[in-house]
This record gives sequence, structure tokens and C-alpha cells, in this order.
Amino acid sequence: MEKRNIGFELTIYNSENELSQEEAKLLEKAVSARKKAYSPYSNFQVGAAVLLENGKIVIGNNQENASYPSGLCAERVAVFQAGALFPTQRIIAIAISATSKNYVVNTPAGPCGNCRQSIAEYEQKQKTPIIILMRGEKGKIYKSNSIGELLPLAFNNSFLEDS
Ligand code: THU
Repeated sequence: MEKRNIGFELTIYNSENELSQEEAKLLEKAVSARKKAYSPYSNFQVGAAVLLENGKIVIGNNQENASYPSGLCAERVAVFQAGALFPTQRIIAIAISATSKNYVVNTPAGPCGNCRQSIAEYEQKQKTPIIILMRGEKGKIYKSNSIGELLPLAFNNSFLEDS
């Protein structure tokens, strides 16, 4: 029998002033994307901004649907758009910003499980880590060095190959 502790490093910034210029700009893009979210059912607005290795930034926001499960989260809108537009460009980082029309979100909102799985696919594909920056509307900013660290023991394509 063996017990393991699986942890991960989280960097916590007090404000955008502590971020690099590049990261602050990426977060700003997530904030402006968030403001255009289509979320009439939840009133919860999420924006995501994906930084590619060629310096381009691709954004996404949550797109809801009257048939609730047909909607999609901001993170997946953004990474799928990045994959569609720039299939050979590696993703360096993704910034996420979330808030509500009904209350102030001052805690960073982590990506949901489905989004973690979707982002992890690209990390697996490109073989380099994808940084995740998270923020609510205001307050602290969390940074994870790799989506894989936010999804330990993930299912990936290695399970689909012949052994
Ligand atoms: N949402 C996201 O866009 N990203 C997440 O990681 C969590 C949730 C959206 C989905 C839905 O439109 C709304 O937030 C409330 O769940």
C-alpha cells in the first residue's frame, strides 16, 4: 500500500499590478470578452482569452441556450476557436474572468471540469504547459502553471492507444 499527496503550485496576486505586462493585457482581454457574454439564463458572465505562441490573442465568452446543456463555457469557446483558427500554434496561457449581473464575484472562478478536460487536450497535444490565470470581477488573481495540475489523473489519449 502506498499513499501519495498530489499537490500543485498556485501563485496568488493581489492585483493586476503584480502581473507581467503580457499577463495583465491577457486578463484585460478576458474582462472585455466577459462583458459580451451571452448569458441571459444564469446572468453569470465569463470571459476567456487565449495567448498563442505567435502572440495572437483569441477570446471566448459563455454562450447559453434555452436548452441549457446546449450552451458552452467561455473557456471552451476560446480554446476551440483558437484550435480552429490557429491549429499549429501552441497555447501559452489562458486568462479567465467571471462575474455576475446580480452580485460581485470577488473570488477567482476556476474552469469547470469539462473545460479543464478540453484545455488539457491541447496541453497534451502541444507537450508544453498551459498557464491558467483566474479572476473574478475584482480581488485576487490565481495563477496555475499548468492545466494538468488542475486535473490530476486526467483521462488522455494514452488510454486510447494499444499497449
Ligand atoms: N461557465 C463558464 O463559462 N465557464 C466555467 O468554467 C464555469 C461556468 C458558464 C456556463 C454558464 O453559462 C454560466 O457560466 C453559469 O454556469
